[in-house]
Amino acid sequence: MIRDPGRLRLLRERPRDAGAVEAMNEAAFGPDRQQKTVYRLREGVKPIRELCFVAIDQKDRMVASIRNWPILISDKWPAVMLGPLAISPELRGMGYGKALMWHSMAQSRMLGHSRIILVGDPEYYNQFGFRRDLALNIQLPGWVEDRRFLALELVAGSMIGVHGMIGKWRVGWRPSGRRK
Ligand SMILES: CC(C)(COP(=O)(O)OP(=O)(O)OC[C@H]1O[C@@H](n2cnc3c(N)ncnc32)[C@H](O)[C@@H]1OP(=O)(O)O)[C@@H](O)C(=O)NCCC(=O)NCCS
Repeated sequence: MIRDPGRLRLLRERPRDAGAVEAMNEAAFGPDRQQKTVYRLREGVKPIRELCFVAIDQKDRMVASIRNWPILISDKWPAVMLGPLAISPELRGMGYGKALMWHSMAQSRMLGHSRIILVGDPEYYNQFGFRRDLALNIQLPGWVEDRRFLALELVAGSMIGVHGMIGKWRVGWRPSGRRK
């Protein structure tokens, strides 16, 4: 039981964290999580290494994790798909989720990404600027509860005109023409 975590360190996820991150996500989202539509977009695609973070407590335990995947909308518009995000049950409601979210979003912007999508509770993600209306013209390749399908513009206006089906990232994909 982690009651007083002391000072946490926020690090890029390391190869040795992978098992603990999987276990934490399984505990938070259940063993059926891999059936969800968003997992279709992660199969066989590596997460964006620079956008996967863990929080480590003073006893070297991994207590929070966030990962992000690359995706392509209509094969034209690259985007980041945020998640999963999970905080150790004993440490929820203490602001660590918020800290990981703001850090991850800031790093996405620093790396030059323009837009983020996610499937999650709007009651939580609205506070970071994620909006349902920005995702009305894009679709996921499978069932999703509409109200939970959200998008965020890291660059103002970057969802304008963006439409169509979201697909997996393709290694070597390059923008053509003037699309960004
Ligand atoms: C959801 C989760 C990531 C939030 O992280 P956290 O560290 O517990 O949350 P924070 O302390 O950063 O919360 C910040 C604010 O969001 C609120 N909040 C937390 N979870 C919320 C939820 N599910 N719905 C609405 N608001 C929520 C908090 O009350 C807090 O509000 P305040 O700033 O007004 O006090 C975490 O609780 C968790 O891992 N849950 C299980 C997995 C999960 O549900 N993941 C994502 C949801 S799709």
